Amino acid sequence: MQTSLVLIFPLLVLPLVNAQVPHWGPCPEPATQPAFSLKKFMGRWFEIAKLPAQFEKGRCIETNFTLKMDGTARVVSSEILKGELRSIEGTAVVEDLKNPAKLGISYSYVLPYSPYWILSTDYETSAVVYSCTDVLRLFHVDFAWILGRTRSLPAATINHAKELFANNNIDVSRMIASRQQGCDKDL
Ligand SMILES: *[C@@H]1O[C@H](CO)[C@@H](O)[C@H](O)[C@H]1NC(C)=O
Repeated sequence: MQTSLVLIFPLLVLPLVNAQVPHWGPCPEPATQPAFSLKKFMGRWFEIAKLPAQFEKGRCIETNFTLKMDGTARVVSSEILKGELRSIEGTAVVEDLKNPAKLGISYSYVLPYSPYWILSTDYETSAVVYSCTDVLRLFHVDFAWILGRTRSLPAATINHAKELFANNNIDVSRMIASRQQGCDKDL
């Protein structure tokens, strides 16, 4: 058992290290938006800031959520990469009915749902979103986003969101602002 863990470890860790810095220990358990309404969360959200994610190198990143008849949501994320508008479609589901702010999003039938937790939102201005995956309960890899209904948010709103992460033991010191300039002109 011990030997196989040692062998598997680097294989599991290396691809993750490239994408994100792993943290020791299991995922934090942040408080989420009480009485979360998926319906009120629908519509267009712009990415204002994020914890670095290698797979998103574009700019003008936004996500459009649309409620479906079955209670799940259609998710269309788009970005401009090398002058080209690219988009991917996925599905968001409430994973925990007791806590509807704990969503899962999958961008493919073959991929499992990734956690997408709404820590806080006023539905009309901003949203604080967190995703964390445990690896063998020994360490975790996480992603964090500040979303806005507009392409920019007041600094006070962004600082408030960062404090919220920090108060939940989520390290957002490496969080970077997303590029949302020149998005509404021609590509
Ligand atoms: C969001 O998706 C809905 C449903 O597909 C569509 O009607 C709407 O135009 C989209 N909004 C944006 C900003 O892309």
